[in-house]
Amino acid sequence: MTRPAILFVCLGNICRSPLAEAAFRKAADAVGMDAIADSAGTAAYHVGSAPDPRSVETAQKHGVDIRHYRGRQLESTDFTRFTHIFAMDHQNLRNILAAAPSDSTAKIALLMDCVKGREGAAIADPYYDGEEHFGPTWKDVDAAAQALIATLQSTEA
Ligand code: 4NP
Repeated sequence: MTRPAILFVCLGNICRSPLAEAAFRKAADAVGMDAIADSAGTAAYHVGSAPDPRSVETAQKHGVDIRHYRGRQLESTDFTRFTHIFAMDHQNLRNILAAAPSDSTAKIALLMDCVKGREGAAIADPYYDGEEHFGPTWKDVDAAAQALIATLQSTEA
């Protein structure tokens, strides 16, 4: 298996994709998988920012400290540095595909495509909503992380 390098992408890189990165890191650690993980935003609104405090608290609840994560924008080298780029929603996916250079080698898909029965689903943006929306966000990214780990461990990855 080539070393998996997974990039999780949302709009701002402060709510959903840091949680996806955190859930994946936790799941990879749990099985001793040597994988690279990072996250990015399609927009530059929060470059250099720490994750949203509601995401920090949600990750903390699940035993992952993400206070040191910093927002960054998707860049063209990501398409060759990462083996997989996962979008949180359809708009992110469109923007990622539009930004892909011709030499892109990454597999690009919706994150929820990893989960049987949830293919094609978006992870709702909790940014404008209350704190109570971040629990369901974690559930989604955690389900995807578990499924992704299983897929990466299988020969077809
Ligand atoms: P994210 O959420 O894409 O899950 O990080 C958002 C964060 C910030 C904004 C929108 C969505 N914003 O418009 O600043």
